[in-house]
Amino acid sequence: MENKAKFYITTPIYYPSGKFHIGTAYTTTLADTIKRYKTLRGYDAYLLTGTDEHGQKIQTVAEKNNKTPQEYVDAMAEEAKKLWKEMDIQYDDFIRTTEPRHTKIVQKIFDRFMETGDIYKGNYEGWYCMPCETYFTKTQLVDGRCPDCGREVHLMKEEAYFFNMKKYADRLLKYYDEHVEFVKPEYRKTEMINNFIKPGLEDLCVSRTSFDWGVKVLKDPKHIVYVWLDALTNYLTALGYMSDDETLFKKYWPADLQIVGKDIARFHLIYWPIFLMALDLPLPKTILVHNWIMMKDGKMSKSKGNVIYPEALIERYGLDATKYYLLREVPEAQDGLFTPEGFVERYNSNLCNDLGNLLNRTVAMCNKYFDGVVPQYNGTPNEIDLEFEKFTQEQIKKIEQLYDEYNISIALQEVWVLISRTNKYIDETLPWVLAKEKQIEKLESTIYHLIENLRKIALVLLPVMGNTSKEILRQLGIDNSNLKTWESLTKYNQITKTKVIQKGEPLFMRLNTEEEIDYIKKDMKS
Ligand code: ME8
Ligand code: MG
Repeated sequence: MENKAKFYITTPIYYPSGKFHIGTAYTTTLADTIKRYKTLRGYDAYLLTGTDEHGQKIQTVAEKNNKTPQEYVDAMAEEAKKLWKEMDIQYDDFIRTTEPRHTKIVQKIFDRFMETGDIYKGNYEGWYCMPCETYFTKTQLVDGRCPDCGREVHLMKEEAYFFNMKKYADRLLKYYDEHVEFVKPEYRKTEMINNFIKPGLEDLCVSRTSFDWGVKVLKDPKHIVYVWLDALTNYLTALGYMSDDETLFKKYWPADLQIVGKDIARFHLIYWPIFLMALDLPLPKTILVHNWIMMKDGKMSKSKGNVIYPEALIERYGLDATKYYLLREVPEAQDGLFTPEGFVERYNSNLCNDLGNLLNRTVAMCNKYFDGVVPQYNGTPNEIDLEFEKFTQEQIKKIEQLYDEYNISIALQEVWVLISRTNKYIDETLPWVLAKEKQIEKLESTIYHLIENLRKIALVLLPVMGNTSKEILRQLGIDNSNLKTWESLTKYNQITKTKVIQKGEPLFMRLNTEEEIDYIKKDMKS
């Protein structure tokens, strides 16, 4: 029996408080891309996503929409699923925090923490930011407003339960220290240590009495479980933790990769591992903290009229171009910037010119010189080809390593280095001169190498641009499944008895720059 290594990957569960913009879609796309990569590498990969449906913010939004919170979240969860379907996200489970499979276990976990003494009763007074569902102390506020989102905060006082975070601070620091791969990129860990742990970790208020849309504390039902304690445990409850520990939970926990945006790093790098320690559970192997997609004038917001929704881009430019742009534009070290100009420029130059034309020219030359039949290659390269092969192999290793480090933006950058090198190879070999001079052997080798490199480019693009990848292979006439595996990337002389399609079709149609920039700008305002 085949026994694949497992790979459990999670996205944050999203607040269904409004329509998802490209920022939210980015997190999910990143997770989906890594899942596809791991699957391609032979893992049994399991992707979890979902919606975070409790809390005062949701209750308020529902009221505004003249709906009960339940009616509201039901509709929004459907919206989320619809979007992920449109984006071809291959999730294995979608958890909603209002589902009994989740709420029952949240109650059990809270109960257990009360029994172990990790949770105790006290009084809470603080400044509460409703959109962030977070309390702040006065000194944490920035100009009297929420330090995270800059919005208004309210002074609130309530009897509440607290989680004893202090008790675990040293253990957490030690864990950070001994597990270098726990936080990626590493500077996020340093931020947590310097900003939150070193100054002294406060106990966390984990219950509310000011509203009732949430999970009730079993033994004290006027208290509602704090939405972050409720939400974080989704990663466990979705696997059947505490209800069926022997199936999915046993197989997939601990998570191999949990992806979160920088705004929720604190919850996932401090509270989450401490909850897991308190439950005596192993910690996730890696938590990947990604940066944000920003607009020229800052964060996306409806009031600024600078919001981009994924559906709009997908409808006009296709799914692959949209995913390519998002993944390429957010690097590990800083925030990415969305601009209509940048989008159109990447589309025309990277997708249409660099990649699209390479395929088009290659297919055309193979048809012109060899009636479409891909020449045989005996595996002995001439001088130019040798250097080209060497470069390609090294480049592929580099790309593989970047995928393994989850550094998708730079991986894509390196794929484009390979594409450029392959275009340059046409200039080096000048196939039309070889044809004129009847240097048939060299011409055969050149066309073979172009086809071979395009096959490899299609494969390394597969996790990001599935449709484009398949279309490239189709046009090249490659249908042997042995030539579609990651392992086949190291092979150089396996393409035999292949015929390219008769007339190449453009992968991406050239965009009219001015028109499309206007189009995207108009869409942002609507
Ligand atoms: O925080 N660029 O949900 P959420 C990149 N329910 N990523 C962005 C972004 C942008 N402009 N805007 C938002 C929550 N995101 C909680 C999570 S998990 C137990 C609970 C990302 O809907 C953001 O960084 O507010 C986060 O990772 C995700 O969208 C969900 O945000
Ligand atoms: Mg948010």
